[in-house]
Amino acid sequence: MRYPFDRLIRADAVVVGSGIGGLTAALAMAPRRVLVITKGDPGGGSTPWAQGGIAAAVAADDSPAEHAADTVSVGGGLNDPKAVKVLTSAAPERVAALEAIGVHFDADVEGHLLLGREGGHHRRRVLHSGGDATGAEMMRALVRAAAGADHVETLPFAFAADLVTDGGRVAGVTARTDEGEKVLALAPAVVLATGGIGRLYANTTNPPEVTGDGLAMAARAGARLADLEFVQFHPTALASGRDPMALLTEALRGEGAVLVDDDGRRFMVEVHPDAELAPRDVVARAIWARLQAGGRVFLDATAAVGASFPERFPTVFSLCLEDGIDPQTQPVPVAPAAHYHMGGVATDLEGRTSLPGLWAVGEVSCTGVHGANRLASNSLLEATVFGHRAGQSVRAAAAPAVEATAAFAAADPGPAPGDVSGPVADLRRTMWDQVGLVRNGGGLTSALEHLDELALLLPFGASEARNMVDAGRLIARAALARPESRGAHYRSDFPAPDPAWAAREPVGA
Ligand code: SIN
Repeated sequence: MRYPFDRLIRADAVVVGSGIGGLTAALAMAPRRVLVITKGDPGGGSTPWAQGGIAAAVAADDSPAEHAADTVSVGGGLNDPKAVKVLTSAAPERVAALEAIGVHFDADVEGHLLLGREGGHHRRRVLHSGGDATGAEMMRALVRAAAGADHVETLPFAFAADLVTDGGRVAGVTARTDEGEKVLALAPAVVLATGGIGRLYANTTNPPEVTGDGLAMAARAGARLADLEFVQFHPTALASGRDPMALLTEALRGEGAVLVDDDGRRFMVEVHPDAELAPRDVVARAIWARLQAGGRVFLDATAAVGASFPERFPTVFSLCLEDGIDPQTQPVPVAPAAHYHMGGVATDLEGRTSLPGLWAVGEVSCTGVHGANRLASNSLLEATVFGHRAGQSVRAAAAPAVEATAAFAAADPGPAPGDVSGPVADLRRTMWDQVGLVRNGGGLTSALEHLDELALLLPFGASEARNMVDAGRLIARAALARPESRGAHYRSDFPAPDPAWAAREPVGA
C-alpha cells in the first residue's frame, strides 16, 4: 500500500493548538506522551493578545458564588449552572497553579494582588500581569513549562487539516507542514484547542490565525455543536484602520475611562445603570448604534488614567502611539469588533465531545459556561480550568490501540491552497455586514447564499479558507434558527428575548 503521507507520528494524545487551553491540557496529561500540533509558533494564537486578565474570586470580600452570580447575570439565561460552578470554584486554585509555573501577577509593594474591574463584575476580581499584558505573561510561562516537559513534543508551523476516524472513534489528525510535508498523527485521544473564529469578520481583535479551524474540523467529523449564534463583539477596539484592530482593554473602563460621543457627552449613563461597565453586548450595541447613525465614539481615559497610562496600560499605550494618538491627553476613537465565540464544539465538564476519542477545550469548545454572552476575563479562566480537567480526563481514559487502517487511507491533507485572498476578504465583509452585531432574517439568508457561492470558488482540499466558509455557514445558520434577541445575538427583526427560547438543552455530550 502506498501511503498518502510523508511522516507518521504515534502518540498517546494529540493536542491541536498551543494557547492556554491546549498547553494546560497537554501539561495535565503527564506521563502520557502528547504531540502538540500548532499552525505557528507555540506562543501564537489569541492567548498572548489577551490584555485585561483572568477573573478569580481571590479577594477577602469576594466569593466564587458572587463570581458565579455575575457570570450568570450577563449570560442571557443560557449559562449551564454546573459549568459556572466548576469555573468559579476552581478559579483560585488555577490562579495558584499558574503562579506555580512562574506566571507573575501584578501586586503592590507588600505583595497583595492588584485586582481590576471590568464590565459585568460587581467586585474587583481581575488579576493581571504587566498592566495589560496578561496573556503574553501566561504564554511565556506555559511555553517554557511545555518545553521543559518530557512528555510533550511540539510540531510547530503545521496546519491540522482534518480528524481521522477509525472504528467509530477519532484516531488522529492529518496535517500539512509549512514545508509541504504531509503528516499523519495517530493517537487514541485528540484534543481540539484551536481557539475561536474572529478572523471570519472584517473587524476583529483576534490575530489572523484564528480561522475557526477546530470548529470546522469537528463539524466535518460529525461532532455535536452548540450556541454557535453567540459571537461576542468587544465594544472598544481602536478605530484606526488596522486589521486586526487593536484592543483597548475593558480594564480601562474599570479604572474610570468613559465613552463619549462627538459632542463629548457620556451616553452610556442613559443606556444602562452600570454605564460603561454594563455587560459587553449592551455597550457594544450602544456604540454600534451611534456609529451607524454617522457619529463617532471615543474612549476618554485622560482624567481617569492620564499620565499613568504608560505604566498601567503599556500595551494599549504603545498601540495608540503607533497610530498617532496619545491616550494620556486625547480621547481614542473606538468601534466594536468580533472578539470571542461563546459557541463551539459541545463538551461535558471534562471536555469530552460527542465523538469518542475527541475532546475540546478553550474557545473552540462550548461547555455552556458563558451562555449567550461571556463575562469579561472569564476566557483565560475557562481555558485553564477546563483545559486542566480535559487533560486529566485524557490521562485517565482507557487508550485503545489505534489500528488505523481506515485512517491510513484517508490521511491525505491535500495540497497547500493557492491565493484565496479575494474570497476570504469577501467572506469577512459578508460576515461583518450580515452576521454581525445586528442581524436579521433577510441578511442571514443572503449571507448563507453568498457563502455557498464562495465555497465553490475555493480549491479542493482542507484549508483555512474552507474552514472559514464552513464555520461562517454554521454561525449564520444558527443565527437564522434563533428568532429572538438574547445576549450577544441581536436580531433587528426579533428585537426582544422570547421566553420560548429561554431554556438551554444540557450541553454535555
Ligand atoms: C479586555 O481586556 O477587555 C478583554 C478581556 C476579555 O475578553 O475578557
